[in-house]
Amino acid sequence: MESNTLFNRLWLDYTASNPSARKIVDLFTAEGELVINDHIAFRTLDDPRISLETIARTFVRQGYKPAGEYEFKDKHLFARHYELTGVDDAPRIFISQLIMADVSPFIRKTLQEALDRVPQDEFSGEDLVFAKTLFDPLSYDVYSMLREESEYAAWFYVFGFRANHFTVSVNSMKKYDTLEKVNELLKNNGFVLNTSGGEIKGTSDDLLRQSSTMADIVCIGFKEGAFDIPCCYYEFAQRYTLPDGRLFGGFIARSADKIFESTNFYRRKEG
Ligand code: NI
Repeated sequence: MESNTLFNRLWLDYTASNPSARKIVDLFTAEGELVINDHIAFRTLDDPRISLETIARTFVRQGYKPAGEYEFKDKHLFARHYELTGVDDAPRIFISQLIMADVSPFIRKTLQEALDRVPQDEFSGEDLVFAKTLFDPLSYDVYSMLREESEYAAWFYVFGFRANHFTVSVNSMKKYDTLEKVNELLKNNGFVLNTSGGEIKGTSDDLLRQSSTMADIVCIGFKEGAFDIPCCYYEFAQRYTLPDGRLFGGFIARSADKIFESTNFYRRKEG
């Protein structure tokens, strides 16, 4: 698949379930900005059938190379980012995975047994990044039980393979060239930001500052009925230059740890 086709399809799927992202792009466009994508993130499990490396294959085929690695001990996650060097404006790809050896037998058994029931040829196709949830039918009870231990596991159970978030590159903005200005614009237009660890994660000394919306709430059909739960969010990244003049291209685990919480369960404010 051509890389433009791949990214367009991911974007269309993503905005279909996260309409705020399209509204935010429209908002920036109306302000005369050109929105460039800093990175796209995916979530998975370290089960060899669907591991980080399996998901990465789609991008490695496009020429992407592994770059930084990140550990999130409390959330039992490991992540790696991939870069396409030499191509201006190519988004980085950030893929995390839940470490199954570190989670409870309940999570391990629930997810692995469900994976065993999936036709195994679904795992090998290039379309795996578009596959959405692998678990059918979804159970709200299972979702709720997973969530008690791991919001990440619960999110993956319901939403699976899709872009978990796209990210606006604040560096490519003209008027909204700081995260403060971006956040102000978003809040003035009624978007809800993730405040875990503060609205802005990271400092200029980290060479990366990030903020994000809280995930849009979507209605999902479970076997017990329809329930409103958070889906995907939009992120904003402002990068700083390294001593050699290049832009820092990595990620800061401490900040990403809080950004993960943008999909934590919450209820839509009434009114
Ligand atoms: Ni991100």
